[in-house]
Amino acid sequence: MEFNTVAITPWEAEAFVDYDRLIKIFGAKPLTDSEIDLLKSIVKESHTMIRRRVFYSHRDFDKFLEAYKSGKKCTLYTGRGPSGNTHLGHILPWIFAKWLQDKLGLDLFFQMTDDEKFWHSEGGEFEYFNSLAYENILDLAALGLDYRKTHIIINSEDIRYLYPIAIKIAKKITFSIQRATFGFTESTNIGMIFYPTLQMAVAFLPSELFGEPVEVLIPAGIDQDPYWRITRDIATSLGYPKPSQIHNKLLPGLGIGGKMSSSKPETAIYTTDSPELAYSKVMRAYTGGQATAELQRKLGGNPDICPVYKMFEMLFEEDDEKLIERYYACRGGNLLCGECKNALGERVAKFLKEHQNRRTKAVNYIERYLIRDKFTPPIIKRIEITPK
Ligand code: TRP
Repeated sequence: MEFNTVAITPWEAEAFVDYDRLIKIFGAKPLTDSEIDLLKSIVKESHTMIRRRVFYSHRDFDKFLEAYKSGKKCTLYTGRGPSGNTHLGHILPWIFAKWLQDKLGLDLFFQMTDDEKFWHSEGGEFEYFNSLAYENILDLAALGLDYRKTHIIINSEDIRYLYPIAIKIAKKITFSIQRATFGFTESTNIGMIFYPTLQMAVAFLPSELFGEPVEVLIPAGIDQDPYWRITRDIATSLGYPKPSQIHNKLLPGLGIGGKMSSSKPETAIYTTDSPELAYSKVMRAYTGGQATAELQRKLGGNPDICPVYKMFEMLFEEDDEKLIERYYACRGGNLLCGECKNALGERVAKFLKEHQNRRTKAVNYIERYLIRDKFTPPIIKRIEITPK
């Protein structure tokens, strides 16, 4: 889908876009102090990604929190299309989902769309994408998601959880809606055309599994929003609550413009990169700085367009005051890009070292996360047929 200068579909998205314009086009609401205060009144804490509006827009987040407060059954839902190793842009919403899960004590349903990524890719065997799903689970484990409350659906293997719901969804959606929403064309393969029903199905799955209407909140990148618009449109007619969303901005890659993306590996930091490699990628990053140190001292840099600054803001600086200091030191020409990159590179390397230790240990317990031994799939109730 092209919105003049903004190209954003679930499969193609920029990072330095006009996010405010995007939510206007999508019809979502900006996250305001009122939702932030409501969340804080419940969890008694705030999260940097909320305070800094990394999560910046929503649909019915307030209603979800009210439902939670009034004791209604609530769950979280997010997911991952395993197209390669996990990079920092992927784990950003997972870190927040884990925080919400811990603070609110909620089950999290997590979808691994090995089918989607195979259908979307230009090459590669299906088995490759399926194996990546398992690789990517290691990252969820390394981030410390609680396996007792995290239920992973691998589409190709756990389809029976989704298919009875997808059947009903599919009947509500015409090709012309799919095409308009996702930008499909005549040459899109038909796997991709069916796929969205499976991503939508998970939003209704908790209601089926718990046998009552369950409120679902989806923390995810704004690029996933097209799915939720349709999901919300058809929810009531299928007898399910409309899922709520809270959207994050996309982490920029270390190059000029663009989100962190597997298609540009030199500007993405993977959880499997050695700490040394990650450090050197950071040192080679594009910045908002001037061409020379002299000019930087004289004119200052521009953190607003700098992926290095954004990494601090979105992931690697917990302390608000230190972040602001960094911002103004850069603007005022007192901080040179080399120092800034070095500081970030060290933090990234440290994070990776610890993450990789936990990731190695997780190999022994991935199974605990899988939905298949924990829930019975939705049961299709037979209807008595009267003989004609
Ligand atoms: N389509 C998503 C991707 O490409 C994967 C996904 C499935 C997802 N279900 C989700 C992402 C729910 C966020 C929320 O990565």
